[in-house]
Amino acid sequence: MTKLDLTIKISRKVGYYLMQHWGDTKEVKQKSSFSDLVTQHDKIAQKIIIDSIKNHFPNDGILAEEGVFENAENLWVIDPIDGTINYIHGLPNFAISIAYFEQKKPVFGVVYSPVLNEMFVGIKNQGSYLNGEKLRIKSKTKLEETVGSVGFSNNFTGLFISKIENKVRRIRILGSAAISACYVGAGKFDFFISKNANPWDIAAAFLIVKEAEGKILNLSGNEPNPLEKGSFIFANPGISNKILEFTMI
Ligand code: IPD
Ligand code: CA
Ligand code: CA
Repeated sequence: MTKLDLTIKISRKVGYYLMQHWGDTKEVKQKSSFSDLVTQHDKIAQKIIIDSIKNHFPNDGILAEEGVFENAENLWVIDPIDGTINYIHGLPNFAISIAYFEQKKPVFGVVYSPVLNEMFVGIKNQGSYLNGEKLRIKSKTKLEETVGSVGFSNNFTGLFISKIENKVRRIRILGSAAISACYVGAGKFDFFISKNANPWDIAAAFLIVKEAEGKILNLSGNEPNPLEKGSFIFANPGISNKILEFTMI
């Protein structure tokens, strides 16, 4: 089985597991703050993913949100549940995010949203797909025809929304960085900003958006490195520079 086929298979398996416990979480622990949470299901989902990868590819390394921080030439970057707060509250936007890198370059990314059964796949030089359908962003230039999103970030989100809300059709906030970024790749959103994202939040979506011909910028207007914590603007290429300007707060 190829690494990509294995990833799709694991994502469906973990998606099935998570659906059995969605909105029914008994152990919720705080990490850095009252809005940074982990449940037993994050940990079990992460273990299912890592055990399966290590079983097939024992020499590969793992960087995973719930406490596995290896470094290796062949590196898997894993968020077992992106959108844990939604998962705890029985809200539908949560996803399994798995990316695979060789020599620090993305090879493929998979984001699976089990409630909506949306499987996003991005493959280096081979395009991006949503449930097997190829994605390609159609360029837009009129801000007033766009719908976009921004993640929560202290002292940024409110200011950004207040600057842009009367210029765009609407802002929506989903609570999963991985899904929100993939929605840019699918043309459902025209932009999404994730401030201070960790690699596991956006590593898979990065290639999905890039291969769909989306633009990905940091707040200095350069392409960011998905293996480093930082700020990411995912956007339709026709409006990416305008969105960048609105982030100058
Ligand atoms: C979080 C979600 C959220 C984003 C946070 C992330 P988690 O991931 O993606 O939308 O605003 O910055 O940490 O904790 O649910 O995996
Ligand atoms: Ca996350
Ligand atoms: Ca997570």
